[in-house]
Amino acid sequence: MIRILAINGSYRDDGITDQVVEIMAEALTATGAGVEIVLLREYPVKFCLNCRECTQQPGTAPGECIQQDGMQELINKIENSDGYILAAPTNFGTVTAVFQRFMERLVVYGYWPWDMNAPQYRKANVLRKKAVLVSSCAAPGILGRWCFNSHKQLQSTTQMLGARSVGTLFTGMVAKEPDYRLSARVQAKARTLALKLI
Ligand SMILES: Cc1cc2nc3c(=O)[nH]c(=O)nc-3n(C[C@H](O)[C@H](O)[C@H](O)COP(=O)(O)O)c2cc1C
Repeated sequence: MIRILAINGSYRDDGITDQVVEIMAEALTATGAGVEIVLLREYPVKFCLNCRECTQQPGTAPGECIQQDGMQELINKIENSDGYILAAPTNFGTVTAVFQRFMERLVVYGYWPWDMNAPQYRKANVLRKKAVLVSSCAAPGILGRWCFNSHKQLQSTTQMLGARSVGTLFTGMVAKEPDYRLSARVQAKARTLALKLI
């Protein structure tokens, strides 16, 4: 069975991001895939300490963080999944802080001993898993996708995990009503995109 992990960096219950991720999960589940959704807003992930302990040993396996929180469990889920949905709304031009905090903890996917200027991605040369990227913003979607940093951050996350993006759903003009519902067109796009993971 194909296992898909959705990592959702929205703060809001049943907001745009939750709705997109749910639709994607339903579409995938209907094909027999196993889908797990991680809501970062409910997940015990501490800030990275920049100690770089996790980056010192070479190898393709993620390094070990010195912190005891939910991140190791999340890394295990990432390692045991065949594909990813990476989702975060756009706040102040980039991914939410809760998603950024998660991203920083993905430094375990970097090999970066103290004498090296920049990290090497541990998974750079492995067989690539697939990822779909999801964001939304108050601005028109096309503008948000190209002008804001959120899409770039989702792409960086994909790269760190050693995955490759097979598509993005960037929904715009979503912030004009408190209970925004996705249009049938966006729902259909979400389903189509999700199925690219399998
Ligand atoms: C604190 C905050 C900052 C935001 N910053 C931006 C922004 O820089 N650009 C933009 O187009 N929309 C911005 N928005 C609108 C959000 O992107 C939009 O409400 C979000 O995509 C909804 O996602 P959610 O329903 O999953 O919470 C912001 C919203 C909030 C609350």
